[in-house]
Amino acid sequence: MATVNVAIVGTQWGDEGKGKIVDLFTPSFSIVARYQGGHNAGHTVLVNGRKFILHLIPSGILHAGVTCVIGNGVVVDPLALFAELDELQREGIEADGRLFISERAHLILPYHRDIEQAAEAGRGEQRIGTTSRGIGPSYEDKSGRRGIRLADLAAAADADGALGDAVRANVALRNRAVGGDPVDWRTVLDDLRACWPRLAPLVADVSQLLDDGARAGKRIMFEGAQGTMLDIDHGTYPFVSSSNGTIGGVCAGLGIAPRLIGGVLGIAKAYTTRVGGGPFPTELAGDFGAALRESGEEYGASTGRPRRCGWFDAVVVRYAARVNGLEALALTKLDVLDGLPEVKICTRYRCGGEALTSVPASMPRLASCTPELETLPGWSRPTAGLRRFDELPAEAVRYIERVEELTGVPVAVVSTGSDRHDTIIRDDSVVGRWLA
Ligand code: GDP
Ligand code: IMO
Ligand code: MG
Repeated sequence: MATVNVAIVGTQWGDEGKGKIVDLFTPSFSIVARYQGGHNAGHTVLVNGRKFILHLIPSGILHAGVTCVIGNGVVVDPLALFAELDELQREGIEADGRLFISERAHLILPYHRDIEQAAEAGRGEQRIGTTSRGIGPSYEDKSGRRGIRLADLAAAADADGALGDAVRANVALRNRAVGGDPVDWRTVLDDLRACWPRLAPLVADVSQLLDDGARAGKRIMFEGAQGTMLDIDHGTYPFVSSSNGTIGGVCAGLGIAPRLIGGVLGIAKAYTTRVGGGPFPTELAGDFGAALRESGEEYGASTGRPRRCGWFDAVVVRYAARVNGLEALALTKLDVLDGLPEVKICTRYRCGGEALTSVPASMPRLASCTPELETLPGWSRPTAGLRRFDELPAEAVRYIERVEELTGVPVAVVSTGSDRHDTIIRDDSVVGRWLA
């Protein structure tokens, strides 16, 4: 059958369970590629009771022999990368010779974190609640055309004049923007140069590597980070991350042609969570939200922060379906809703006397929306650990069907637990065909 490369994208505010699904599908692929974001991501994978949290490195790395790629659209903190590689090595996972990073990827340097901290402090109540990884300021330098890329570091192995000038200029900007002790650019430069010997064997022309792979019939999976609502263009701006986690980011962030994307799978949690600030129409602020947080273990994989919890928002996922051209959904964490007497879904927003069926661009407007909630019966028989669709309680099936109706996307995968195997892939679905 024809080679199908599949993109995995988040449909909500991140943490939908992308890592679990990428890990589950990896055996059908030769290459797994990250195209945006950085170590703000936290992708949790549970393998036979062992828990791995991937941040910068594609989740496919857990499978021996799979090539993993970090594209030009990703921002790379060398020290965070080394820490993650060390952690994997301690767990017996060797990335040597099968992890490649684009020479066009921009670096995150220590001063980016200082700038981010100062910016967040300056926002007061309006702070974004970032992961403090320096992601935003690194992308700002990229757009401002003063960023430092891996290719610049490579060139400095021969002559470091240009790299030194760039570091000096950027540190000067940092020292003007941030109070306190000034940073010495020479120290930053020396520390950066010290990273090169370990980075050098990883650096590659990723666009070429993927093109060669595709021509050789290798199957590629594109692993999104964050989610549609955190996308810099299509998300709840300014309460977003600084990259395009939506499907458009795949081509720009890897240097590949759109025709190489054969399928798009959206990952959606059976309810909604969000970490950090910004409007969240279906949020359950009281005891019930707290109870959902406990049963879903909703604490950030990167920062440990409690995630805000709420009902499934079909307006958000329908929007994500349009922006990403979703062909199918994986509905995760269905088991977390087990035992509730009733479950609710937001079908549209009520906003100043108007009914909205899509996510408004203005944040004050989104913040003033109240969700119109539809109530469905809950299920008393647990779904946790079920692996066949026909074993699901009738009420859970009804819930899934309602998600399909409201979002306009078929649910091809249902996840009923964090383990790889606690998953239902519907036989007649497009995903079944992709993985065949
Ligand atoms: P990602 O960032 O999209 O990869 O998601 P995270 O890893 O940040 O968050 C998802 C969390 O839910 C992780 O702790 C997963 O182990 C867990 N998880 C994934 N799928 C399921 C599921 O179906 N049921 C339950 N109970 N947990 C799940
Ligand atoms: P994964 O890939 C959930 C959120 C932060 C903050 C906003 C901006 O695990 O789904 P940043 O540090 O990126 O500038 O923060 O985006 N955020 C995430 N929330 N999951 C993520 O990644 C996130 N990455 C960033 O909490 O609100
Ligand atoms: Mg996560």
